[in-house]
Amino acid sequence: MAKGPTDPLSPATRLTTAGRRPEWTGTGDQPGAVVNPPVWRASTHLYADTAALKYGPQRNEDGRFYYGRRGAPTQWALAEALTEFEPAAGPGGGTMLYPSGVAAIAGAILAAVRPGDVLVMTDNAYEPSRVMARNWLAQWGVETRWFDPTDPAAFAAALCERTRAVLLESPGSLTMEVQDVPAMAALAHERGACVILDNTWASPLGFAALAHGVDISVMSLTKHVGGHSDVMMGSATAGAEWYRKLRMGAQVLGQVVSPDDAALVLRGLRTMGLRLERETASALALARWLEGRPEIARVLCPMLPGSPGHDLWARDFTGGCGLFSMVLRGGTAAERDALVDALALFGIGYSWGGFESLVTPLDPAHARSASPWPLPGMDPADRFGIRLSIGLEDPADLQADLERGLAAWAAAA
Ligand SMILES: Cc1ncc(COP(=O)(O)O)c(C=O)c1O
Repeated sequence: MAKGPTDPLSPATRLTTAGRRPEWTGTGDQPGAVVNPPVWRASTHLYADTAALKYGPQRNEDGRFYYGRRGAPTQWALAEALTEFEPAAGPGGGTMLYPSGVAAIAGAILAAVRPGDVLVMTDNAYEPSRVMARNWLAQWGVETRWFDPTDPAAFAAALCERTRAVLLESPGSLTMEVQDVPAMAALAHERGACVILDNTWASPLGFAALAHGVDISVMSLTKHVGGHSDVMMGSATAGAEWYRKLRMGAQVLGQVVSPDDAALVLRGLRTMGLRLERETASALALARWLEGRPEIARVLCPMLPGSPGHDLWARDFTGGCGLFSMVLRGGTAAERDALVDALALFGIGYSWGGFESLVTPLDPAHARSASPWPLPGMDPADRFGIRLSIGLEDPADLQADLERGLAAWAAAA
């Protein structure tokens, strides 16, 4: 969906206004006007006559009724709202919605690569992004080269004449390495490559991706934007040129999200700023406390001064979130699992960014090929860790829960 109003509202205010076009909600002086665009359920849109039916497909424009696969006001409102948080998308820019974050990553990559091209991917990318490249894009003749996310020279060396796309993820959602996105984008553009960023961790509230040189900013809306662990969706936001390609690809591949899901995600968006503020503050407090614990070898939380990636984070980001990781001092996988199993307030499960806290074991060695694990400078015995997604609970309760977990870890040794 193409871009909406461009007036300079602060993000906090925009969260309350975004996507609420009067033609979708009605206006206060009309009976039946509503605050949120209603859930507009339709597969078929009816035409007045055959002339109008024939005219429909010729006018493939945003915001024009055609057939359910091209959406209706509920989906258009969400897409437009997301575009409003990336003003650098400019005129003609917009957001495509996908049924999951992985589908959005696929849509972005497919918009940019053809057989014979090279995709350059950060080594800390979400594992299914790696699997997509290795097991699937390879079958279509697209080669992928991975690089150490903390090594700009390795990134430069991975680029070549055939590089048509670059996939960054900053911070990486497991090991949290921050990449120098503006510098990498400039190098990639010299080669004519499209720069795709998985911006799920920061969202545009924390990192204005397009303003930092990214061509396509992808998010798993399943995480912070949905925010309630009950809906799956993805988005890709871009300026006019890449938005046109994303849109064509999504239409050809039949990508569509349900209006019910779009309404849930739009509802989540309204409170995302407050949730992120709270989760960030709690995560920072817990990360600081964990840093001082003797059981912890390293806290991986770029928001924390002294943690890897903090300098780049402080330079480029305006916000954070509740997701961070830590590595235990020595021990085995079984001992680490005893810690995870002892936690009562942290649910054990995939995903993150919901209102409730989650924990997953962190054992990333198998999911990287171009960078070492344990990280450089770490004791090789320090391999096992956990990833925490901090929710809206009282951080004091979460700290008490983690103390219980650390005691179980020590007892299991
Ligand atoms: C960084 C990151 N990107 C993308 C995704 C995929 O999102 P989805 O689960 O909505 O497909 C995830 C899911 O965990 C993720 O962590």
